[in-house]
Formats: sequence, C-alpha cells, structure tokens
Amino acid sequence: MIKIKAIRNHVIEYMGALFYCMKLSWNASKYYTTFRIICGIVLPVLGIANAFLGKYLINLLTGVFIVQDKNIVFLSLMAGIFIIGFLQRGGGSLEQYMQSMHDNILNEKLSIMIMDCSVKADLEHFDNTVYYDKLQAAARDSFSMVHIMWNALLFLSASISFIGIFAVLWLANPFFGILLTIAAIPSTAMSMKYTKSIYRLSMEQLKNERRKGYFQGIALDKRFAQDVRLFNIGGFLKEKHYSLWKEVFGEQRKVARKRTAAAILWECLPEIVSMAIGISIGFKIFNGTSTVGDYSLYTGLIVQFLSSFSRLSLSFTNIYDNKLRIINLKSIFEFENHVLDHGKLELEKVDTIEFQHVSFAYPNTNKWVLEDLSFCLSKDEKTAFVGINGSGKTTLIKLILRMYDPKIGTIKINGIDLKEYRLESLRANFSVYFQEMGNYCLSLSENITISDIKRKGEGNLVLNVLKENCSEDILEKAPKGLSSSLTRIFDEDGVELSGGQHQKLALARTIYRRNTALILDEPSSNLDPKAEHDIFENLKTITDGKLTIFTSHRLSNISLADRIIVLEKGKIVEDGNQRQLLKNNKQYAELYRYQQEKFRMDEEDGGIMC
Ligand SMILES: Nc1ncnc2c1ncn2[C@@H]1O[C@H](COP(=O)(O)OP(=O)(O)OP(=O)(O)O)[C@@H](O)[C@H]1O
Ligand SMILES: [Mg+2]
Repeated sequence: MIKIKAIRNHVIEYMGALFYCMKLSWNASKYYTTFRIICGIVLPVLGIANAFLGKYLINLLTGVFIVQDKNIVFLSLMAGIFIIGFLQRGGGSLEQYMQSMHDNILNEKLSIMIMDCSVKADLEHFDNTVYYDKLQAAARDSFSMVHIMWNALLFLSASISFIGIFAVLWLANPFFGILLTIAAIPSTAMSMKYTKSIYRLSMEQLKNERRKGYFQGIALDKRFAQDVRLFNIGGFLKEKHYSLWKEVFGEQRKVARKRTAAAILWECLPEIVSMAIGISIGFKIFNGTSTVGDYSLYTGLIVQFLSSFSRLSLSFTNIYDNKLRIINLKSIFEFENHVLDHGKLELEKVDTIEFQHVSFAYPNTNKWVLEDLSFCLSKDEKTAFVGINGSGKTTLIKLILRMYDPKIGTIKINGIDLKEYRLESLRANFSVYFQEMGNYCLSLSENITISDIKRKGEGNLVLNVLKENCSEDILEKAPKGLSSSLTRIFDEDGVELSGGQHQKLALARTIYRRNTALILDEPSSNLDPKAEHDIFENLKTITDGKLTIFTSHRLSNISLADRIIVLEKGKIVEDGNQRQLLKNNKQYAELYRYQQEKFRMDEEDGGIMC
C-alpha cells in the first residue's frame, strides 16, 4: 500500500515537473516550441517509413516483389527513400538550429527568474545556508535545465517510434517487441537509480563545491590580490581547493564506477535478444517463410527499436533528473518572506521616526541585538547614534528600512506603523549611505545615478552632486569624464580610485537621491581630515529641514548632531546633546576623552619631534 502511494507520488511529481518544463518552454517561445513538437512527431514516423521502403526495395531487387513495370517501381522507391532521407536530414538540422535558439532564450528566462527570486527575498535568507545552497544550485543548474524541452521532445519522438515499431514487430511476432522491451528494462532502471544517487550526491557536495569556488575566487579576485601576495598564500589556497576537489571527486568516482559496471552488465541483454530474433528470421528465410526484405526490415527496426528505447530511457532519466532540479528551483520560490509588503499607504515625507519598546534578535539567533528601544526623532533634528563596535547602530538602521522587522515593539513614521506603508514607498523616502557600501563596475555617472534610476541623470546634475560632495577630484584621472568606467575589470580605460575616493563616490550616490530623510552609517571612515571637514560642512546645508541620522566613530563629526543617542549592547544608555552628555560624564564623555587624549598625545609627540 505504502509502495503504491510512493509510486503515485513519484508519478505526480514527474508529471508536475514535465508540465512545469513545458510551461517554461512555451513561455520562452511559442514559435520554437510548436516547431519542435512537430519535428518530434514527424521525424520518427519518417524513420519507420524508410525501413518499409527499404524492405520493398530489397524484395524488388531479389525478385520476391513482382510488379509489372519494375523500372518505374524501382525509381519510385529510390525517389521515396531519397525524399525521406532528405526530410530526415534537413529536418534534423533545422531542429538543431531551433533547439539552440530555444535553449538560449530559455536559459535567459531561467536566469532572470532566479535573479528575480533573489532580489525579492528577505535579507534574512542570505544568512541562511540552506537558502544560499539552494539558490546557488538553481543558478548552477539553470543551464542543464534548458535541456528540459530537449528531453521532453526526445521523450515524445522516442515514444512515437517505440510504439510504431512495437506495433510493426507485433504483427510479425508478438514476442519480438515484448522480449526486447523486457531485455531493455534493467539498464533503464539502473540508469534511473544512479541518476538519483548522483543528484543527491551533488546536492550534498554543494557546500564543498561552494567552498572550492570561494577559494578559487580569492585567488582570482582583485580585492584579495594584495593579501594573497603579501601573505604568500597561493599554495595555501591551491591546497584548500585541491583537498575539497579530492573529497568531491572521490565520492563522484565511487558512484560513476558502480553506474558504469551496471551499464556494461545489463546493456548486453538487449543485444542477446536482438541476435536471437535475427537468427530466427534467418532460419525462416532458409525455410522460405520470410524474405530477405523482411530480414532487412526487422533488423533495421530492431536497431531503431533499441535506439528509441534507449532515447526513451535517456529522456525519461533526464526528465527525472531535471525533476529533482526543478523541485529545487521551485523550492527557492517557496522560502517564506517575513518582511511582508501588505501596506497600502504612500509615504510622502518623513517628519518623525518613533521607536516604541523595540527589541530585535537576528533570525535563528537567540541573543537580543537591540533591547527595548524607545525614542522619537524629528525632521528638525540631526541625530547621531554612537556606541562601540557591535552595539547595534547598523541594525537599528536596517529596522527603519524594513530590511528586518522588530521582534517586539513598533516603529512608526509620522505616527503610523512602518508596516502600513508600501515597502517601496517607504524605502524611496530614504537616502542611505550603508557602512559596507561598495561601488559598481559601471560608469562613474551610473555609479551615482543608480540610487535613483527613474530620474534622468543629466551630466550637470551629477556634476553638481560631485561638487556639493567635494568629490570632483574623482574626475581628475578619468579619461572620459563621467562616462569613464569604474575599475579596469571590464574596460582598459577604466578609473581606479583610492579608498577615500570610493567612499566619496558612494556618498555622492547617497546625496543624489535627494530624499526627505538621510541616513549615513560611518560615512567618513576613509576620508582625509580636510575632505571629512568639507563634506560634513556641506552636509549641514544638505540636511537642513531633513530628518537626519548618522553614526560615526570619529566624535569630531558629532558636533553636527543636535542630539546624540548612545547605545551599549543594544540598549540606550544616554540621550542628549553633546554639551549635556559631556557634562553627564558617562559613556559618551569617556569615548570623547579617549579621542581627545589621543589627539593631545599626538600633538605632544609632534612637538617633541619638531
Ligand atoms: N546578519 C546578522 N546575523 C546575526 N547577527 C548579526 C548580523 N549582523 C550583525 N549581527 C550582530 O549584531 C550585533 C550588532 O551589529 P551592528 O552591525 O548593528 O553593530 P554596530 O553598532 O553597527 O557596529 P560597528 O560600530 O562595528 O559598525 C553584533 O553583535 C553583530 O555580530
Ligand atoms: Mg555598524
């Protein structure tokens, strides 16, 4: 009973995958799908017709087939064989062309689907190895999945030739087809069994494969190039890569050996049966009950029968294999997003942000990163969040942008729960500089305008932003001005920027958004003192009338803030302006003194050296 249920589930999964494949193919191109289905039906029928024409030709030549006008029949048969051969070859080439075009389109569709899934997924999924593994597997397998249509059509054409030839063989002797089918079943079953094992193995080994790719990535990535040379870790990376490969290869070889041994053993069965059929027809010819044409027809059909069976089993196994990959592909769309976009309200402007008893722990962790935070920020003030590393400053920003939702408590904008706003509309109101901000291998101009791609980024607008941000020096070495590519990864004339210039470019991108609220998370960590001073002076004007939040470990910038909130282990420990906090003489004053002391000592050292 359980077995029947399992088989039924398999069949349902199989048909589901087949249907899904066909739907993908159809959506990719109706034209190519239709043409390929027609070819899948017509080409096998032509094969059977050709075998019959061959039989009549041999019988005519050996004098068994007696007709009035031998010459005309002979020429007609030859013409028929020629036309069918031409159609088979021409159709085959056309089919190949259609397949390669269709595969290409399908591949692109799949890549876009996977990208779409990835960009819509909650940020928390990227902290989840299972999701990451599945996403990587889907991206890796997308190429092999383009063959789904090929396999489905192969299955269709092989089924047609299989049924057609089986019927013809049945007419000659019912045992022929049955024996051949029974003989071919074990090798198909083996093939399916090992396909499943190989897929399971490839999924189990995905983590190792990813790690292997990671080590190769370090050796190839420009960002690590200096470390690799300085630490001389080329050998270390190669060793890591090789040992992971060895582990993966060893496992794969074990399964591949078993599969090959089984194939050699079972694939001789159909050969034995076809030889027996050949012998029996041979004896019939000696007895005069069969013709040489029959021998040619049946031996030809047996070859086609075995080939169609092996194509049938190959496509069946491949669809089975694809089924497993498709189940994986479908599963990445099934990861539940927790940051739901059910809000209906449009956010026009950010006037206030209020935290009401907000606590937060990252998914799959059990430690509060933020605990019972309550405060209200308004557009009339610029607030600095200060605290040592890991105190929760960046996390707090992520909650405002709904990259995650609080576990407890509510965050309100303009007195309304964040969740009431449409997610896109909420995020569109913030210009944000993220602490880990990277730049893109695009033109300098695109690096700035990408933060608001719907707005037309005319040259002047972008130049003004650079001016405003005191970052025109970025253009000094750019041969094509704003059109120059950033980095030389894709363009020999690309511009390479210094660490500080990279930060300036990213800041320019933030400022370009011109939104009603501005968040800057450690915006000056790489800037020289003059650039930092100039940029912060400019920020005073840019941030006027806007709700502004920033974090900075350089407390010299904090004078820009009207209000300072000090975090310690995710809790607010101080809240006030700089003067009040210095007077309080607690955590903030202590941090401030550390930096002041450092500057005083540096100045004294400088004095002695002079
Ligand atoms: N994706 C994550 N998953 C789990 N824990 C995380 C994640 N991101 C950050 N954390 C943890 O949350 C805590 C707060 O991190 P956060 O980045 O908010 O600190 P921060 O105050 O911005 O520090 P810094 O001054 O170094 O930028 C840290 O202990 C960190 O380890
Ligand atoms: Mg941070």
